[in-house]
Parts: sequence; C-alpha cells; structure tokens
Amino acid sequence: MTLYIINGPNINMLGIREPEIYGSKTYADLVNFIKTVCMENEVECDIFQSNSEGDIVTKIQQAYGHADGIIINPAAYTHTSVAILDALKAVGLPAVEVHISDVDSREDFRQISYAGMACEKRFSGLGFEGYRQAVLYLINK
Ligand code: DQA
Repeated sequence: MTLYIINGPNINMLGIREPEIYGSKTYADLVNFIKTVCMENEVECDIFQSNSEGDIVTKIQQAYGHADGIIINPAAYTHTSVAILDALKAVGLPAVEVHISDVDSREDFRQISYAGMACEKRFSGLGFEGYRQAVLYLINK
C-alpha cells in the first residue's frame, strides 16, 4: 500500500508558529513520526509539503495511478480552496483530512472545510497522532 501524505502552507513552520496551538515539535519531527508509523505498518509513504495551492493540486493529481490513498492537511487552504477539493474529487482516491489543532473550536472562518467534502474521514485536534489514525483508517478500510 502506498499513501501520499500532503501538508499545506505553514506546516513547515511547526515548532516556530504559534506553539500554544500547534506545539513545539517541528516539521522534521512530523516527517519522522509519519515515516515511523508507515514503517511499523508496512506502508510506503510519499510525504509532501508546499506553501503553494497549485503545487498541492499537482501533487494530488500525481497520486492518481501511484497511491492507494491520500492523507491531507491542507492547512489554511482547507477553508478556501475549491481547487484542492476538485483535485481530490478528480483522482477519486480514498482521502482523509487531518488537522493538528482542533479546528472546530477555533475561529468561525475555520468552520468550513472544502477539502473535507472529498474526504471520508477527519482527524482534528489530535496533534501528530491524527496522522497515525489516518494511516490506520486507510489500512483498515
Ligand atoms: C491546521 C488548521 C488550519 O485552520 C490552519 O490554517 C493551519 C493548520 C491544523 O493542522 O490544525 O494552518 O490545518
């Protein structure tokens, strides 16, 4: 099984950005965490981060024919991007939405998730653990 794990803007700033919300661990820590989870579960993973909406759309398109599922934290694009929603729908792969923070308990503008409309499942507010739950969900599907 191969999973594409896609992270959006400012996820590369983990450890620096708003540690009271996102914690003190870095993006490198997140990559190591995901790699370990995937290794333990014998899953191949392609871990990608971009601050650009178009690059995220391109990466989702590349998953077609290469991945069995997508785990995506679109970050701020969650709440704005019809292009990411359309890309997820276009490839038609099982997708899971992950958020490190609990978006449901945050500002009103975070209450809409376009990407989530094309995702089977959402893990929000579990920190890095959400990525593990997403991997396990797609394995057990
Ligand atoms: C986030 C939540 C988003 O609202 C925010 O814009 C992010 C990160 C999260 O992982 O909690 O950048 O997706």
